[in-house]
Amino acid sequence: MKVAVIGAAGYAGGELLRLVLQHPDVREVTATSRSLAGTPIAEHHPAMALLTDARFAAHAPAEAARGKDVVFLALEHGDSSKLMGSLIDSGPGMIIDLAADFRIHDGRLHEQHYGAHAAPALVHRFAYGLADVRGKELRGAQAIAAPGCFATAALLALYGLADLPLLAPPAIFAVTGSSGAGQAPTPTTHHPARANNMFAYAAMGHRHEGELLEQWRTWRQDPAAQARLMCHSGPFVRGIHVTLHAHVAEPVRDINARVAAQFARRPFVRVLDVPPQLTQVAGSNFALIHAAASADGREVQVMCVIDNLIKGAGGQAVQAMNLALGLDECAGLTAPGVFPC
Ligand SMILES: NC(=O)c1ccc[n+]([C@@H]2O[C@H](COP(=O)([O-])OP(=O)(O)OC[C@H]3O[C@@H](n4cnc5c(N)ncnc54)[C@H](OP(=O)(O)O)[C@@H]3O)[C@@H](O)[C@H]2O)c1
Repeated sequence: MKVAVIGAAGYAGGELLRLVLQHPDVREVTATSRSLAGTPIAEHHPAMALLTDARFAAHAPAEAARGKDVVFLALEHGDSSKLMGSLIDSGPGMIIDLAADFRIHDGRLHEQHYGAHAAPALVHRFAYGLADVRGKELRGAQAIAAPGCFATAALLALYGLADLPLLAPPAIFAVTGSSGAGQAPTPTTHHPARANNMFAYAAMGHRHEGELLEQWRTWRQDPAAQARLMCHSGPFVRGIHVTLHAHVAEPVRDINARVAAQFARRPFVRVLDVPPQLTQVAGSNFALIHAAASADGREVQVMCVIDNLIKGAGGQAVQAMNLALGLDECAGLTAPGVFPC
């Protein structure tokens, strides 16, 4: 296959590039960057020195997409919707967008979290690529919106509760590492502000709540279903840890076994007997989950950890591509994580 990665100099695009360069079915990769066009990829992503001696291409996105089997976009939010029309016209076999632009089909929900959409008529072409839940449903998709990193971890935790009667909307406490904010430092994201520190942000309305609610409402078959995402910055580079808490209307028993049964056939989700830790997934496409109930069965907690740049970005995008094309779902994604890291 011929693949293009647009925005390959960024953190998410870089991880995606590392994965597609090792994918057994990918024969040719074009990696674009505006600021680093002509620079050897391994100069910017030194860990890729063994994988490629190519340089970043200067191609405009539509030009890079022409003749490709799959095009991945890893651009800042809002950029992909501005260029999607011309990208589609250039005729690639499949488009996978890692930004938020095409994740939410409900126009009002999108606008509430992101403002006006630049290409609303194109949104319904995109399937939501939550690979570990949607699995073979993605077969044949030609346009996929890869879920956000917080949303991926939160939805994998929520999935086990989808058909339980609840007394109140679940609350999900989430902590992300600094790579979630991309490579350009800001006063709240660069090292002195993040190291040895932890803080909440986007209280009562993080953007990823939009896509989370759309999926949750579909699973619950309830257009008014609610859930609350509480996001925090943590003093580490990679990973997202979420803890979901919910009050159930009827006592539940064996919640962990129930969640394990739901994911039994999904290759990248492991349900553990103990709470998972971030370092167990860093560098891998795995999600680790553990669920527990209170002694009376009326309160439930579900913990989920992922690597935000792999399961939360590039890895899930490649998994969705594999599923959409009917390839081995695990192709190019079997590397285990690294510990210590
Ligand atoms: N970081 C994460 O954990 C994560 C997880 C899930 C999804 N995402 C999503 O992935 C996207 C990228 O995030 P990031 O964290 O990787 O940000 P980032 O590190 O800031 O990278 C964004 C990249 O986009 C490139 N770019 C922007 N416009 C371009 C264009 N027209 N043509 C070519 N390259 C262009 C920029 O490079 P040049 O200036 O050199 O072009 C930059 O390297 C965002 O939409 C984000 O929401 C990120």
